[in-house]
Amino acid sequence: MYIYKAAVIGAGTMGAGIAQVVTYSGLPVILKDVNQEAVDRGLATVRKIYQNRVDKGKMTASEMDQKMALVSGATDFSGFSDVDIVIEAIYEDVSVKQKLFQELEKICPEGTIFASNTSSLPISAIASAIQKPDKMIGMHFFNPAPVMKLVEVIPGLGTSEETIDDVVLFSESLRKIPIRVQECAGFLVNRLLMPYLNEAALALQEGAASAKEIDTALTEFGMPMGPLTLFDMVGIDVSVKVSDILHDAYGPRATAAEILRALEKANRLGVKNGAGFYTYNEEPKESLETLIEKVNAASASSKGFSANRLIMPMINEAVISLQEGVASAEDIDIAMMAGTGFPQDKGGPLHYADQIGVDVVLSELESLKENHGDRFWPAPMIKRMVQGGYLGKKSGKGFFQY
Ligand code: CAA
Ligand code: NAD
Repeated sequence: MYIYKAAVIGAGTMGAGIAQVVTYSGLPVILKDVNQEAVDRGLATVRKIYQNRVDKGKMTASEMDQKMALVSGATDFSGFSDVDIVIEAIYEDVSVKQKLFQELEKICPEGTIFASNTSSLPISAIASAIQKPDKMIGMHFFNPAPVMKLVEVIPGLGTSEETIDDVVLFSESLRKIPIRVQECAGFLVNRLLMPYLNEAALALQEGAASAKEIDTALTEFGMPMGPLTLFDMVGIDVSVKVSDILHDAYGPRATAAEILRALEKANRLGVKNGAGFYTYNEEPKESLETLIEKVNAASASSKGFSANRLIMPMINEAVISLQEGVASAEDIDIAMMAGTGFPQDKGGPLHYADQIGVDVVLSELESLKENHGDRFWPAPMIKRMVQGGYLGKKSGKGFFQY
């Protein structure tokens, strides 16, 4: 099916970015939110993204006007009677999303594709509320949507192959890299990213290192931004929701750091409201130090910090996902580079494991387990690979062949 017109629902951080991506590809899009103020904010974000390009000489003002003419704001469903795809980017709550899609089913044409940009809610659960689950799919963009190349394409249990193919082609037409991912909590990228981010929060709350030291260690490793800066960009509230879903699915190894909930309670939600791990344009009521003191009383004393403390759990979760068939080794690496900026020269977490040695990964995980607990328990496949001589580059075979 060719997509001639799209709608994006939710004009917040993600929705506005996705609407810009759609218009950039030359397609008309409706950007809908609950009230005019939110719609206007979303439209202003789209304009700001284009204005930045104009200011850098990457497009002319008249080209910007042409692109802006493709996006129209809405607070109701007028204009939805001929949309080919709806991309939902609203509040992360399954029943709120279900209600929205039920309403959309009554308004949109028979063949409309219903895509959710959910960070971690099961696509099958959202689809269970509608009449045509074959049309429902996960289409997961990464923040900032105009920049990050990845789109995770996540079929639910009832999604048809036709819908999957259409969304893969549509994502390519948006100049994105679509990667098909088997449905699981956190899908692929958040499942690997969250243990890495959470470990940064745990190290901070233990007093193992300062926020700046943690972020610097990871940018020195080659990540495009530090993990605590990234938490602030994603939003502490969104991160807590994702963490809870991961904990529900994967148990104790995915227990969220207490500092996250303390930040949320103190209304330090990140860049979007002026303060999170860092302070932006708002002076928060409670300082980060006070919050750390509060949660630190209950947590273990500092046991050291290194970038490996964050990278190893990411590799471990990559291997567990590989074992489960969530995606191929190749796709796991591409997804982490295109979705999070994992350093290209390291080739993604599994190529990196091969580079440093799968045996080294195993001994690092064992030592982290000793020092910090069972959340670092090595994936069975890592042990099997070491026993079988699949040590990575140095033995000519690992996650990849050399
Ligand atoms: N919107 C639009 N464009 C943006 C932008 C935004 N919010 N932020 C940055 N850009 C653009 C800049 O304008 C710049 O464009 P040009 O190349 O045309 O000049 C380009 O991105 C690079 O930006 P900067 O030079 O300002 O800064 P940078 O090189 O440090 O890149 C970054 C910024 C792209 C955000 C980079 O730091 C990065 O890749 N960070 C990692 C982001 C990440 O991991 N995202 C995934 C989060 S998880 C998620 O989204 C899933 C979920 O469900 C929670
Ligand atoms: P946000 O809070 O910035 O924006 C959500 C917007 O949706 C708000 O403007 C709100 O008014 C609007 N909204 C809520 N209910 C609505 C409804 N019924 N109809 C129309 N509009 C409605 O949130 P966000 O960070 O953009 O996240 C949106 C979705 O994208 C969530 O599912 C989130 O998990 C997912 N996501 C977030 C990120 C991220 O980094 N923030 C990345 C990928 C995916």
